Amino acid sequence: MASSKYLSIFSPATPQQRQENFADYWQFTQNHGGELFEAERDLAKKRAKLQAFKDNPVSLRTPLANPDVFYRNYIEMQDDPKSLDRMTLMLTSMYKFARHEWVGIKGAWDVVPDMANSHSVEDKISRVHLAEEFCHWRLFDEMLRTCGLDKVEWVPLTPFKEWVYEQFPKVPGIFMDPPAFVTELMGVTYYFHLHRLFDDVLADEPEVRQRLHELLDEITIDEIAHVGQRRNFIGPIGMKASKWMVRPLYKLFFADIPEVAELFDVEQMVKDGEAFDFNEVPEYMVEQSWIPSYCKA
Ligand SMILES: [Fe+2]
Ligand SMILES: [Fe+2]
Repeated sequence: MASSKYLSIFSPATPQQRQENFADYWQFTQNHGGELFEAERDLAKKRAKLQAFKDNPVSLRTPLANPDVFYRNYIEMQDDPKSLDRMTLMLTSMYKFARHEWVGIKGAWDVVPDMANSHSVEDKISRVHLAEEFCHWRLFDEMLRTCGLDKVEWVPLTPFKEWVYEQFPKVPGIFMDPPAFVTELMGVTYYFHLHRLFDDVLADEPEVRQRLHELLDEITIDEIAHVGQRRNFIGPIGMKASKWMVRPLYKLFFADIPEVAELFDVEQMVKDGEAFDFNEVPEYMVEQSWIPSYCKA
C-alpha cells in the first residue's frame, strides 16, 4: 500500500506559504551544499563528496568490450540505436542528458546575478541552485569515468541551441518559471528510472552498480529539493500551465535523445511526472532533501 505522507507537487500554495518556504529553503540549501565557491562554480560539501569518490575509485570487473561504440555515438548517434548494447545505450543517454543540463546552466550562470549582486532570497537561492547543477555535471562525468570512459569531452550544442538556452534565463519569470519547474521534475523522473536501469544493466557489476547509485543519489537528493523550490516560484495559473506542460516537454526533450525510447518507457515517465507527490522517494533521500510545507499531508 502506498503511503500518503505527501501531497501532489501540483498542490496549491498561498503567497504567504511560498514566502515562508523560500526562507526555509534558503536555510536548507546553505547547510546542504556548504560554502559557495563562485569562481569555481562549486560548493564546499559537494566538492568534498566528489573528492571522496575519486579517492576510492572502483572499476568494472569486465571492462567495456568496445568503448569505440560509445565514443562514436555519444555526441551524436551515428549507428542504429537498436544495434547498440544496453550498457552503451545507457552511458550515451547519460552523457546526452547531462550535456543538456550543462549547456543550460552554462548559459544561465553568466546571466543571473552573482552572489554579491543577489539581494533577494530568490536570487540567492537561484545562484546556489546553479552551482549545484555544475556539481551534477561533475558527478555525471565521474559516473562515466567509473565505467572506464576517461576521454569524454563536454561539447557545446549547435550555436542555435546554445543561443536558445542563453535566452531562457532572460525571459520574465511568469513565462520561464513553469518550464523551469517542469524541467526539474523531468530530471527527477529520469533519475528514478535510471536508478532502476542500473540494477538491470549492471547486475553482474556490484561495485560499479553501487558506486553509480551513490553518485546518482547525490544528484537525485538535490533534484528532489529543486522540484519543490522551483514549484515555489509559481502561482495558481502557472501551476495549471505547468501540469499541462509535463507531457509535451517530456516528449519533446526525450525525442532528442534516441537512446531514451530504447531504454525507458517514456509514457510511464510522463505519468510519473504528472502524478509526482514525493511518496515514492525513499526515506533516506527525504531526510537529506527538502519538501515544501504545503506538500506535506
Ligand atoms: Fe541537476
Ligand atoms: Fe536541478
